[in-house]
Amino acid sequence: MNSLHELLINRRSIRRYTAEPIDANDVKLILEAGLLAPTSKSTRAWQFVVVDDKEMLEKLSHCKPVAAHPIAGCSLAIVVAVDAERTEPWIEDASVAAAYMQLQAEDLGLGSCWIQIRDRYMADGTPSQEYIQELLEMPETMPIVCVLTIGHKDEERKPQDVEKLRWENVHIGKWRCDEQ
Ligand SMILES: Cc1cc2nc3c(=O)[nH]c(=O)nc-3n(C[C@H](O)[C@H](O)[C@H](O)COP(=O)(O)O)c2cc1C
Repeated sequence: MNSLHELLINRRSIRRYTAEPIDANDVKLILEAGLLAPTSKSTRAWQFVVVDDKEMLEKLSHCKPVAAHPIAGCSLAIVVAVDAERTEPWIEDASVAAAYMQLQAEDLGLGSCWIQIRDRYMADGTPSQEYIQELLEMPETMPIVCVLTIGHKDEERKPQDVEKLRWENVHIGKWRCDEQ
């Protein structure tokens, strides 16, 4: 990648991956990106659970009835949890770290996808996070914001079209700009 801007344009959610494993050094760089992320009051209360066992990935993919299938086919999943008792803006802290890891993955030429876990439920009403916490023997006090799926890309996505960005969502100076 030449620049951060170019990386932002090219990053798309990738949901299909080849079977090629991820280089251990790349895994370290991705986790380092998460650990480098800023947090409120520098609390750094996030916890990242790294899973590459195929059987476990398959089980994790059943955490919700829709939109969790990329977990089954990825090389690596990172469960992004956070000690919510240590910081009020825990959702924000975890989200920033997850986004950093996605950008680092993209910079390494890898694909990734955010799988939403917070406020998501299984078909029987069990919270998705409870199912994951039990599988991974995680403490119940550690809410899970998302699972990041990462792997070598097995699909091509078009870069974002900067011509279609929603500039109408940007408000300069105050909410309503006077009609010219
Ligand atoms: C908060 C959040 C939750 C998301 N949840 C899911 C999900 O559960 N499953 C999934 O396949 N993609 C999920 N995504 C990926 C979005 O669908 C994707 O980012 C969006 O469609 C824009 O596409 P792009 O990432 O390719 O630019 C999520 C993304 C965000 C930021």
